[in-house]
Amino acid sequence: MLDLSSSRLTAAPIPDYLRNVYTWAYLTPWLTGFLDRQVVVQTILWGNAQRLIRDVLAAVKPGDRIFQPAAVYGSFSRQLAQRIGRNGRLDIRDIAPLQVALTRQKLAGLPQVHVACRNAVDPEPRVFDAVACFFLLHEVPDDVKVQVVQAMLQLVRPGGKAIFIDYHRPHRWHPLKPVMQRVFAWLEPFALTMWSREIEDLAGSSAASFRWSKRTRFIGLYQTVTAERV
Ligand SMILES: C[S@@+](CC[C@H](N)C(=O)[O-])C[C@H]1O[C@@H](n2cnc3c(N)ncnc32)[C@H](O)[C@@H]1O
Repeated sequence: MLDLSSSRLTAAPIPDYLRNVYTWAYLTPWLTGFLDRQVVVQTILWGNAQRLIRDVLAAVKPGDRIFQPAAVYGSFSRQLAQRIGRNGRLDIRDIAPLQVALTRQKLAGLPQVHVACRNAVDPEPRVFDAVACFFLLHEVPDDVKVQVVQAMLQLVRPGGKAIFIDYHRPHRWHPLKPVMQRVFAWLEPFALTMWSREIEDLAGSSAASFRWSKRTRFIGLYQTVTAERV
């Protein structure tokens, strides 16, 4: 049974975009039990979830302090916490109390993990070795994409990095392109921007303080973008 009563779970109002578009996915308790499984995440990402998670794991090391701006279904956070070990620290935020409770419950027993209810764009009092932003950008409106990217970059210490994993414009002959266009039109109204805008461009003037690299996966449908603070 999830404990949603704690005042620590009600720190920020749920934005309209989340309530209007994603109630079924993130705010509906009975459905989360089904969705919060690695096999479901792996299926939604056409078998690419583990490959994309490995991109993040390869970019961090034991002892690192990591910031994760939103909860992720499946085993992403557990794998990240195990990779940094007990000498590291993984701070996870989510704006939905239900997701905070779920994440706390599934990561109980990992003392390096700290979960709180916050809007990802709210300032944090510390900086991190790495920020791991896993499939958040495509689920927020365009103005919030800009705010999230800029807020994440502010959290990176000198020499540290932000890693963004998200959708990307697929190759023009990608067999799943028409399918994904339909999925986006039906369920993910903010996602198509990821096909037309570079994450680096969302960073505005802060982009210049970072060295950017991008790797695409699955014939372009996904991207791993790393911004390393110079
Ligand atoms: C990381 S994204 C997408 C993850 C991916 N679909 C998965 O496998 O779980 C989903 C999470 O983002 C959270 N979220 C959306 N907007 C947010 C914001 N501004 N700040 C923090 N969390 C946010 C939602 O509550 C949800 O738990």
